[in-house]
Amino acid sequence: MKGKDITSYLKDRGFLIPNAEIYGGLAKSWDLGPLGVELKRNLKNLWWKYFITTSPYNVGCNSLIITHPRVLAASGHQKNFHDWLVECKTCQKRYRLDNLINEEEFAFFLQEEKKENYLVQAKCSRCQKNNFSSPRKFNLLLTTNLEITESKESLVYLRPETCQGIFTNFATIQRTMHCKLPFGIGQIGKSFRNEITLRHGIFRTREFEQMELEFFCPLDESEKWWNYWTEKAWNFLQKITNNPANIKQVELKPDELPHYAKKTLDLYFNYHFGWGELCSNSYRGNYDLSQHSEFSQRKLSLGGIIPEVIEVSFGVERQMLAVLEDAYKEESTEKSAHPREILKLYPLLSPYFAAIIPLSKKKLHTVTYQLYCDLLKKVDFNLAYETTDKIGESYRRQDAIGTYYCLTFDFDSEKDQAVTVRQRDTRKQERIPISSVIEHLNQEYKKYWKIFLN
Ligand code: GAP
Repeated sequence: MKGKDITSYLKDRGFLIPNAEIYGGLAKSWDLGPLGVELKRNLKNLWWKYFITTSPYNVGCNSLIITHPRVLAASGHQKNFHDWLVECKTCQKRYRLDNLINEEEFAFFLQEEKKENYLVQAKCSRCQKNNFSSPRKFNLLLTTNLEITESKESLVYLRPETCQGIFTNFATIQRTMHCKLPFGIGQIGKSFRNEITLRHGIFRTREFEQMELEFFCPLDESEKWWNYWTEKAWNFLQKITNNPANIKQVELKPDELPHYAKKTLDLYFNYHFGWGELCSNSYRGNYDLSQHSEFSQRKLSLGGIIPEVIEVSFGVERQMLAVLEDAYKEESTEKSAHPREILKLYPLLSPYFAAIIPLSKKKLHTVTYQLYCDLLKKVDFNLAYETTDKIGESYRRQDAIGTYYCLTFDFDSEKDQAVTVRQRDTRKQERIPISSVIEHLNQEYKKYWKIFLN
């Protein structure tokens, strides 16, 4: 699917909503609709179970978004967290320099002292002119003011990565939880960056969520744990996508590394616009804990040593976009000229694991809806109610949002107290008594959790 198509598909189906749409919207900013929010919750649950609660080493935390300036002075973000900005002097369109020139040219540019004459061939995509400003550093940190008067003292930041809250809480968590090396601390939450350009729907936004693990270990174990966690990150992605060829590893060259990293291995997904970074694994050495020790004058060491850090950092929205693009399929059917659209999402990610449908909207709605209400509190998963004029149309609607099972209540159901259960991918159907159908589906749901965590 092309970029415009995937975004409108997700908009039409209830995954995405343009932000503040009734006021004309904030450009390229997205809220989540009812299905987007369920998918996101499922994804975060999988990550949390996989990286935190089923790991004997790791615990979680939740630090604030609003960030003390000293934290980002210590972390190096105040000084080093920037992109190179150029502006078209004719129409004022802004660009990230690395989006206007190729990788080699950009690497060369970074090494040069005199940063001029780099855009001889580039053209502005809006006005087609070659009339660019000189590149300048643009800090990506977003700020806000906590007091009524806007003075420098009241300036605070919105965190650019969730992990800084892990580093500042490191000693307290270690002490209160009696953690011994090696151990990890994970966090899921919002991060903010004043990106120069927003791109590809929810791929690059100014407000997004991260799922991050910071794993602390002694120096002589850092290689072992680097291999362990980078493999875990890779396996996590493999487990929840269909096509392994759509994921690749990209090791950053020394001049591409972020200021805190000694080594970075990114995981890329093959999105509709090409390969894009989805997850970033970094060996951060003891950079962060040393910096925070120095700036805070607090001891952030254990047994006299400052631990090394292995980081696994996933972007939630980029992961959502990847699983949605990976899952979208069109299948032709004998019965219809229009292909069936289907989201072959990993069953634990689907916004609804199952839906209940009356065979006839007119005659069976009341009884089926009553059954749906009765079952809602007995299921371990999300259950939807679907009704259209034709059963085929109901199946299509549920396939298009990834619902794994459809339960159809038909004219025999009242007599035999059974429903037809249809599976999304195979379209196979079986008749199951109402008295046991929920137990059956709860077991299926549990089975997928078992497979996922093994
Ligand atoms: N703590 C390490 C860190 O923040 P990063 O490579 O800057 O590393 C990690 O970000 C992940 O966060 C990326 O791989 C991406 O998935 C996500 N991410 C970063 N900037 C983003 C943006 N502007 N919009 C959406 N996701 C973003």
